[in-house]
Amino acid sequence: MIEISNVSKTYGGTLKAVNNISLNIAKGEIFGFLGPNGAGKTTTIKMITGIAQPDQGTILMNNINMQEAPLQAKKQFGYVPDSPDVFLRLKGLEYLNFMADMYDVSKEDRTERINMLANRFEMMHALSDPIQSYSHGMRQKIVIMGVLVHDPSVWILDEPLTGLDPKSSYTLKEMMREHANAGKTVFFSTHVLEVAEKVCDRVAIINKGAIQFCGTFKEIQEHFKSNESLEKIFLELTENE
Ligand SMILES: Nc1ncnc2c1ncn2[C@@H]1O[C@H](COP(=O)(O)OP(=O)(O)OP(=O)(O)O)[C@@H](O)[C@H]1O
Ligand SMILES: [Mg+2]
Repeated sequence: MIEISNVSKTYGGTLKAVNNISLNIAKGEIFGFLGPNGAGKTTTIKMITGIAQPDQGTILMNNINMQEAPLQAKKQFGYVPDSPDVFLRLKGLEYLNFMADMYDVSKEDRTERINMLANRFEMMHALSDPIQSYSHGMRQKIVIMGVLVHDPSVWILDEPLTGLDPKSSYTLKEMMREHANAGKTVFFSTHVLEVAEKVCDRVAIINKGAIQFCGTFKEIQEHFKSNESLEKIFLELTENE
């Protein structure tokens, strides 16, 4: 579970990228984080993952305080950043082994997981090639596999579906559901509202650094007294004055 309480972040002393947001993401749910470009999604995710320090507020990861016990908190989650251009000189398999080493994954566990992930994401043929030679979607997949190889309890994914082909996108969504059904947590940002509507148990909509709404899709429709799609409601909510 992820508990975000009264978190804010200002860049350069003036730009309030994230303004006093609070969110609780429970075990067993897929939570979608939606908002237009520049709304503050990545900034929020960077604070949740400890990459950026919040100006104020607290973040708990499976009840462990991110600021007080960062190392222990960081062992709870796996993070897929918005850009998959990491360790380009390594071969796919070297990268997966590096990630497994970082998280102390045993030889047996990693072999089993790498085989399973490579099969599900159809990456078996590419593991001996350098990541530099991968397409964008393949880079995205190797980063996702690197996260899943240590089987973290909390998944934090920033735009994970960008660049994935339909089959890989379907596989990842299927894996997210399996993970949530196993009582664990998935938090991801997306621009694809049809996906959010179909896949997420709950969503939060952020605009200009502030949460506009948080709840199930049904609650959103009730709240806005609307039978419209999430896309329509989202566009109205985030429209510029
Ligand atoms: N390192 C930084 N320094 C200064 N300003 C930043 C920095 N990172 C983000 N910002 C600003 O903070 C605001 C929020 O950006 P953020 O990247 O969190 O948005 P986002 O919701 O992830 O957008 P997108 O959908 O385009 O990924 C934007 O106005 C952006 O220009
Ligand atoms: Mg972003």
